[in-house]
Amino acid sequence: MGARLNRVGERRPRKILIDTDPGIDDAMAIFYALESPELDVVGLTTVFGNAHTDVTTRNALRLLEIAGRTDIPVARGADRPLAMEYRGPVPFVHGDDGMGNTVLDAPTTRPIATAAHRFIVETVMAHPGEITLVPLGPLTNVAAALAAEPTLAQHLAGIVLMGGNAFCGGNASPGAEANIINDPEAADAVFAAPCDIVMAGLDVTEQTLMTNADLARYRRGTTPAAAHVAAITPFYANFYRHRLGLDGIHVHDSTCISYLLAPQHYTWVEHPVCVDTGDSVCRGKTLAALRGVTDREVAWSGRRDVRILTGVDDRAVVELELARMGC
Ligand code: BDR
Ligand code: CA
Repeated sequence: MGARLNRVGERRPRKILIDTDPGIDDAMAIFYALESPELDVVGLTTVFGNAHTDVTTRNALRLLEIAGRTDIPVARGADRPLAMEYRGPVPFVHGDDGMGNTVLDAPTTRPIATAAHRFIVETVMAHPGEITLVPLGPLTNVAAALAAEPTLAQHLAGIVLMGGNAFCGGNASPGAEANIINDPEAADAVFAAPCDIVMAGLDVTEQTLMTNADLARYRRGTTPAAAHVAAITPFYANFYRHRLGLDGIHVHDSTCISYLLAPQHYTWVEHPVCVDTGDSVCRGKTLAALRGVTDREVAWSGRRDVRILTGVDDRAVVELELARMGC
């Protein structure tokens, strides 16, 4: 899924549209994508999640300003899930400002007037078959776009999303991962979409460790983006040290970018997926139909296989990310 060949055999960057709730690891993933010539970031759409949408939108704008990429549009998206109240921000993970309490200057740029889900529809329909959606937060905007344009899925190149846990426990509850539990109904609608979907969930992201020694390398980088990552990641690493006793961080959102650039570093299985949208302790759990689907399993019936990432050469992808950031 890296750069593709055009009709005359030249490499063309893959167009990606990132839906995001920045968020420290979202910031890392966005910069990583911007520094990768195989990828053409055609827009950022924002969503609630790690912080309120006002905050994530401000951060998305500032990140593009820091990267010198204010040519990329930012469309503001949903500020609450489809069918429940927002569970609220997670300042103990990402800081009150979503950027590790580094308190960024206010952006000088503004979001476009188009709402995120409309922007997704318009962008995909203007480039049929060319856009890969890369959701890094709750799937509310993507579900809204799929509902607004029933043929959207057929016009996508695919979806590579961070979220879910098929074969391990959750991180936001014992049962569920944060992005999915923040809007299980939206996530279930997205996993039902008839297009190629890659799920980079906790199964693989919690196998990918960026150590504190790795993180220290961001201080060597010469770009404003690397300096920003160096400033925001100590807060995040502190959370991991206190919560899990980790020497470093799990690499969540950047896994989508690494997969797009270097799928050879990953292994996967393919099964249909649905999401627990009930009120049990497993609300938000991604459930893979491991042994096929009979007529009795209506929740999965008619769904295409999702590529669920399960293994990674984590040193290879961490080195790739650091190299792209010049660190
Ligand atoms: C996901 O939740 C958020 O906190 C991160 O940004 C990532 O997208 C990990 O579960
Ligand atoms: Ca995120």
